[in-house]
Amino acid sequence: MMKFPSDLLEALRAAQHIAVLTGAGASAESGVPTFRDAQTGLWAQFDPEELATPEAFRRNPKLVWEWYAWRRTLVERAQPNPGHFALVEMERHAPQFTLITQNVDGLHQLAGSRNVIELHGNIRRYKCFACETPHSGPLPEGEIPTCASCGGLLRPDVVWFGECLPAQAYRVALEAAQTCDVFFSVGTSGLVEPAASLPRIARRALATVVTINLDVKTEWSPNAYAIHGKSGEVLPALVSAAWG
Ligand code: OAD
Repeated sequence: MMKFPSDLLEALRAAQHIAVLTGAGASAESGVPTFRDAQTGLWAQFDPEELATPEAFRRNPKLVWEWYAWRRTLVERAQPNPGHFALVEMERHAPQFTLITQNVDGLHQLAGSRNVIELHGNIRRYKCFACETPHSGPLPEGEIPTCASCGGLLRPDVVWFGECLPAQAYRVALEAAQTCDVFFSVGTSGLVEPAASLPRIARRALATVVTINLDVKTEWSPNAYAIHGKSGEVLPALVSAAWG
């Protein structure tokens, strides 16, 4: 049984507003590969940062489509893991709860979380690369499907490097970081701005900040807790220690 400091458990029970930021690590146990762990198999020779850009799509739309089609296949096969379900449970206990995700896989929604703030879009949606019209319904035939309004190439509705975040989603995320009592950073390397700044903003606003990641050493300091471990193991244990 995992042990947690009693002041962390008390902070969770007393919190009026809990905000959670998740990254690719939160979906790793569902079989969705993270970005910065090496790619394997077919795509091992490509750097994701060189595929997830508008320039890459302009240069070689077919390559980018194939990469996303492969990622989408993985996402469609994936099921939420115990970490996703623990966050659904946490939402039930917190008077106010904001779930902010950098993930584009929709697994939080599938687990049952409500009002998920998607900072980087969703791989299950498409929009036009030229006119940005969202695409609905099944994908048109063709190697690279095209837009019904303007004939432009369709692309996944995700945020690529060099593109702006959806403004409303970012506003809500920022406000949550500034006003929450407890802020969780789960399974993110913290390398991609502006999401990476949210835990710092929360800390500056005197929230209790909890990091759950395989990259950290477990360390407690006042109002800052780092927990080394898998989110699918740590989150359920923490939720049941606090509210079970
Ligand atoms: P990364 O791939 O950069 O980082 C994943 C983090 O999760 C690493 O720190 C791992 O140690 C950790 N990790 C792996 N498995 C874990 C597990 N089971 N439990 C807990 N932690 C685990 O992914 P992100 O930080 O999400 O953006 O990347 C941020 C953004 O960069 C992505 O949203 C994407 C990407 O390129 C865009 O596409 C715009």
